[in-house]
Amino acid sequence: MKIALLTGGGDCPGMNAFIRSVTRSHLNLGGEKAEVRGVLDGWAGMISGSYRQLSILDTAGIGRVGGTILGTLRAPELKRDEALQKKVADDFLAEGFDALVACGGNGSLKAALNLDQRLTEMGETRPILFTGASIDNDVANLHGTSIGFYSAIERSVEMMEWIRDTASAHRRVYIVGSMGRRSANLPFVAGLASGAEFVIRPDEQVDYGALADMIDGRDRDTRIIVSEAYPRTVEEIAAILAALLEQRSSAHEIRTVDMGYFQRGGMASVTDVLRANRVGHAMILSLLRGEGSAYFGAFHAAADPNRIPLEEAASPEATYDDIPPDVIEMAIALR
Ligand code: F6P
Repeated sequence: MKIALLTGGGDCPGMNAFIRSVTRSHLNLGGEKAEVRGVLDGWAGMISGSYRQLSILDTAGIGRVGGTILGTLRAPELKRDEALQKKVADDFLAEGFDALVACGGNGSLKAALNLDQRLTEMGETRPILFTGASIDNDVANLHGTSIGFYSAIERSVEMMEWIRDTASAHRRVYIVGSMGRRSANLPFVAGLASGAEFVIRPDEQVDYGALADMIDGRDRDTRIIVSEAYPRTVEEIAAILAALLEQRSSAHEIRTVDMGYFQRGGMASVTDVLRANRVGHAMILSLLRGEGSAYFGAFHAAADPNRIPLEEAASPEATYDDIPPDVIEMAIALR
């Protein structure tokens, strides 16, 4: 069986562990005709027909390395260009692929679903298997945690600890920008894990007066994480708080910093590696059993991954973007 292996969307730690798991599981279990072709640069490589043959040795030592050895370029044109979508399906068949095994964000999931639907319309059946890989953890997250999420949390916690040192030394307030797109998952859990004094979620109705009182009442350091989708920038928030602190004759200074792209880099967490191993292996077993297209999700490595239809995974019901009220209450209780 000749499979195409793709990593799409924003890169994240754990993608390489997924590549390693899929490649090794397929080449070790798939028999003599097993072949893995890595698609270069994600969906851009599907459009241009750029591939690289992968061997077991090619995947040695990459399990915890950040980024993706296959690359991932954004290809937004694929979203609406029907002729391009058809070309991708035609090329997929012309290359003689028996299946696609892919990981990435919501855009990649939609592209995978589209390829599945195009092939079906053409009367062809080729399993399209997908799992979420995104630091945002906003891909069908009711059915599993995206690969890369816990690595980004670990990176954020490290950065928040470094910021605490200087914040404490200077009696400063740091307004810290976080990635996460529309979802509160990354900024909120990064705040919880690092003990941040406050996290502004995307739809938060911020009581700036209360926030200034909280800062004023603190001794030395305050770190406030701001979600990417919150409508005010970190600089705008700093200006509002600076004015309010001045009214209170507070000695705290304010600075801004963005964790942004740093959250996507560095070594994969152990949990991300283990889940990537488990899901990649389960996908190959599913292919060898002759099963069809599906989304695979896992919360941890010990249990069999959840397997749901691609359409269901891509529907809004499969994903939550805000934090459940009981978790918010817990965060408030721990302040
Ligand atoms: O989806 C992952 C992510 O890192 C988001 O948190 C962020 O909004 C986006 O990608 C940034 O994308 P780009 O690398 O295209 O600037």
